[in-house]
Amino acid sequence: MTTSGIDRVNGHPDIRPELPPRTMELLRERNDDLRDRAVANAEAVRRQRSLGKRTARERLDLLLDPGSFTEIDLYRRHQAHGLKVSEHRPHTDGVVAGSGTIDGRRVFVYAQDFTIFGGSLGQAHAAKIHKVMDMAIDTGSPIIALNDSGGARIQEGVMALDGYGGIFRRQVEASGVIPQIAVVLGPSAGGAAYSPALADFTFMVRGTAQMYLTGPDVVQAVSGEKVTHDELGGATVHGELSGVASFVHDDEESCLEDVRYLVSMLPSNNLEPPPAYVPVGAVDDVRPGFASIVPVEPNKPYDMRVLIEELVDDGEFLEVHAGWARNVVVAFGRIDGAVVGMVGNQPMVFAGVLDIEASQKAARFVRFCDAFGIPLVSLVDVPGFLPGTAQEHAGVIRHGAKLLYAYCEATVPRIQVIVRKAYGGAYIVMDSRSIGTDLSLAWPTNEIAVMGAEGAVNVIFRKELAAAADPDALRAELLAEYSEQLVHPYYAAERGLVDDVIDPSHTRSAVARGLAMLRDKRRPTPARKHGNVPL
Ligand code: HXC
Repeated sequence: MTTSGIDRVNGHPDIRPELPPRTMELLRERNDDLRDRAVANAEAVRRQRSLGKRTARERLDLLLDPGSFTEIDLYRRHQAHGLKVSEHRPHTDGVVAGSGTIDGRRVFVYAQDFTIFGGSLGQAHAAKIHKVMDMAIDTGSPIIALNDSGGARIQEGVMALDGYGGIFRRQVEASGVIPQIAVVLGPSAGGAAYSPALADFTFMVRGTAQMYLTGPDVVQAVSGEKVTHDELGGATVHGELSGVASFVHDDEESCLEDVRYLVSMLPSNNLEPPPAYVPVGAVDDVRPGFASIVPVEPNKPYDMRVLIEELVDDGEFLEVHAGWARNVVVAFGRIDGAVVGMVGNQPMVFAGVLDIEASQKAARFVRFCDAFGIPLVSLVDVPGFLPGTAQEHAGVIRHGAKLLYAYCEATVPRIQVIVRKAYGGAYIVMDSRSIGTDLSLAWPTNEIAVMGAEGAVNVIFRKELAAAADPDALRAELLAEYSEQLVHPYYAAERGLVDDVIDPSHTRSAVARGLAMLRDKRRPTPARKHGNVPL
């Protein structure tokens, strides 16, 4: 039996020796009574541990600053009847809720307790979550959900479904107002899966976390397909295939540590500037290392994350969706102390082309950064959009338009750095001047054009090449002419589409100066209900 948590509850009777004896006696009785009510089910806790999972309170201890947790609604319990549920009415109703701090900054939290009704959500459980969500919205604080739940509490029927609806509605109301983080540490079945889906960031732990709308039994009953919980909706599935999980971890400890790291990168709400630290002199930083990261040959692969490491303070950044749509990299980092969101093409994966999933991933990241005032730095090295029937039939036009839309509507400071090549529609989409970047920087080795020289020459000189006595010689001549006239950054710079052609070693300082220059950018948007982003 454990009484963990009860001693930390603020506002409980504090037994002081100077109180009158009768008062002390009463307070002691009540306090003991309260302790008895809050004990955990030892067998369920043992089972939780045997599954490699911590209890809800242990997780909150890892997540929050020591001693900072203030719990509310500890004594709440369900008022349901029927199906023998009224015989068992444990306190908390399977969710521990309240507020605490992370690095001294206030957050609101709720942690579902699988040891009580499998963490399932009934009316009282939902009402507690609604309460902390409302407080988070009212006080402009991030909300963090630790999910470990069998979904809607079956015995409570439609009241459980109503409870979920209340969570979803609040999540949408809070979207773009406060950061919402879901941490899936066990099952998150049925309705419980939509809440992480509506969050800004979703963490999952390998082996213990699963998310699906219908479990393996239903899948088998409906389609005959046999599948395990993990194969259906484990962390690897959502971290690499579906893109539902933004971060995947091997254990709860490193997962909750990374939640703290993410929070350290985010403002508490959309009216607060993102966290900024003391500038580290990046504006004068010359780094010869940049030039050796990017090969001059346009098709030679390299790792964009190495370039990001060179760009940010202390070489530290937090990559989001590291395992999904890896042909684009999205990450938070700091440049001269200030948090930025970075979007970079990844030449190491599918040559860095944009496709459906890369567009979705980058678009959602750009929209998050824009909603929370985080400046955007786009690192461009893109051969174009992925051609082919698979992409076209699956709607690459519609999905690519999401990224276009996201950049076009972003009003935060935006800097584009073209490090090697930028072709066609992908050049436009990757935060070109035409869609509103504030500052476009390019390395001198750069290629910007409608298409590569080979393709371009074949299209515009098709007749001449067909009629030529020596087509290869003519092609070589035309290729050289095309490259010399069009495929270099000065063509764009002469026309104001590139603001500066920079020495690669000055990339960090140029971006830091750009960010300083744009820090107070304000661009009001026209009054409207909301735009109609292509979904
Ligand atoms: C009530 C539940 C429950 C639920 C689990 N429990 N899920 N009680 N409602 N939804 C209880 C179990 O009865 C059990 O109680 C305890 O929690 C632990 O569950 P086990 O099954 O023993 O655990 P385990 O083997 O680890 O399996 C976990 C599980 C499984 C995979 C989550 O419990 C499961 O499949 N549950 C049902 C999932 C589901 O279909 N939920 C409804 C989704 S529909 P005892 O007393 O024995 O300890 C939904 C609609 C909302 O959510 C849609 C909104 C858009």
